[in-house]
Order: sequence, then C-alpha cells, then structure tokens
Amino acid sequence: MADPTFAHVPRHVAIIMDGNGRWAQQRGLPRVEGHRRGVETVRKTIETARDFGIEYLTLYAFSVENWRRPEDEVGALMNLLEYFLKKETKTLIKNRVRLRTIGRTQDLPAKVRRELDRTIEATADFTEHTLVLALNYGSRTEVVDAAQSFAAAVQSGEISPDDKSWEAFARRLYTHDIPDPDLVIRTSGETRVSNFLLLQAAYAEFVFLPSFWPDFSRDEFAQAIEEFNRRERRFGRTGDQLTAAAAPVSGAS
Ligand code: IPE
Ligand code: IPE
Ligand code: MG
Repeated sequence: MADPTFAHVPRHVAIIMDGNGRWAQQRGLPRVEGHRRGVETVRKTIETARDFGIEYLTLYAFSVENWRRPEDEVGALMNLLEYFLKKETKTLIKNRVRLRTIGRTQDLPAKVRRELDRTIEATADFTEHTLVLALNYGSRTEVVDAAQSFAAAVQSGEISPDDKSWEAFARRLYTHDIPDPDLVIRTSGETRVSNFLLLQAAYAEFVFLPSFWPDFSRDEFAQAIEEFNRRERRFGRTGDQLTAAAAPVSGAS
C-alpha cells in the first residue's frame, strides 16, 4: 500500500498503548499473550511512524502505577522489554532511529537497564527519528524530580530564584530536549490520560480509538493523523485570527 500523504505531519506523536489484557481475555488467552502481541504492534508502529515522516514517537510502555499489577505480570512485561531491546536494536540502527527514555529508569531491573543503555548508546548519533520509551513514567513523579532539580539549581546559584519562566522549569523535565507532543493517541476505548505527559500535552490534540493495542494498524494510525489535520489548533487565539494570519501560527508556552 502506498503511503498516505498528509497536509501536515505531526512532529511528535505520543501513544498510550492500552488494551493488551482485554485483547487476550476476549480470546480466552492469558494477559501476557496480549502483551506479546502488543510488542509486535510496537515494532510495526515504529516503522509506520518512520514511513510517515514523524520525527518523534513516544510510547507509554510502563507507568509508575503499573507496579501495582500482579508480580508475574510485571515480571513478564520486564522480560518482554528486555527481549524487545535485544531483538530490535539492529532494526533501529538500520532505520537510523535514536532511542531515548523518559521516566525513573534507574528503578527498572538491572538486566533491562543494561539493554537500554546498550541500545541508547548504539543509536545516539541518529538525528532524523527518535523513539522515546516512557518507562516507569508518571507525570507527577516527573514534576517532583524536576522541582527537586530546580531547587538544587537555585541553591547552587545556577538559576536565579526570581526566574519564573516556564522554559527554565521545562529544562528540568525528562523531556527537556524533546518537543511537546502534537498528537496523543490512546487505544482501547478509554478516554483518560493516566498520568501521561500532563504538562507537555497542554496543547496536544487527542484522538481516542476503540481498538485494543494489538489490533492498532497502519490504517488507524493514518486515520488518526487525518483527524489531527482536521483540527484547528488555536493556542489561545481566535479562529478568525488564524484565518487572517498569512503565516502558520504556532507556539504554546
Ligand atoms: C497496556 O495494556 C499495556 C500496559 C499498560 C503495560 P493493558 O495491560 O493495560 O490492557 P488492559 O487495559 O488491561 O486491557
Ligand atoms: C496506561 O495504561 C499506562 C500504559 C499504557 C503504560 P493503564 O492500563 O495502566 O491505565 P489505567 O490504569 O487503565 O488508567
Ligand atoms: Mg490498560
């Protein structure tokens, strides 16, 4: 199938990959089978994002709240993550995709951290496409970590206590060198954000899809981008101002 052409390709798409468990349960399979199939969708989605010309793709893979799940499910997710990194690093290198992470990755099992470090190092020089894995990620812990780092920088004199700019604070977030997401997609029919990029998605467009993550297809990805193209992003201005503006308007901060 030929790649669709979009009037405007979002620079950064962030996805809440939800519904693996229900996908499996509907088929009488164990939840972990849904996660296995979900990894296949991750692989395909990274390729699709690259084909579509998306610069940044963020995937919410494990939240700080997901530690509350049964121990064997958490263990299976960590094993799958390790397996994915071992298997896919070659493809990331071939496709010139850089890997980044956001979240408290220092608290992940050592075997996962080791694979993460390896892949991040092996892909560090690529600049065209970035895959951001949100791992042990939660917006609230991110704010706590940023506030702590900000306070330390004030104390050391690196930041003035009078600096009230968003930019100075945003430089302390995990996403300091990643642009804000333009489009956030959530699969599985749930319409909540579940502690994902709460600050960065302040002006993102949201698309909620009924499919469970293992069924998320290239077509649905394309449809979500079409939907993004139908939205009018105003960043606080009026619709008339946008029509009148000769140049495209951007910039929320
Ligand atoms: C998403 O699928 C994967 C993770 C959160 C790790 P779920 O496992 O949340 O699937 P449902 O929502 O229970 O169907
Ligand atoms: C959000 O999905 C987290 C990830 C996709 C990693 P959850 O399935 O954990 O979200 P809730 O608990 O239903 O809100
Ligand atoms: Mg879920």
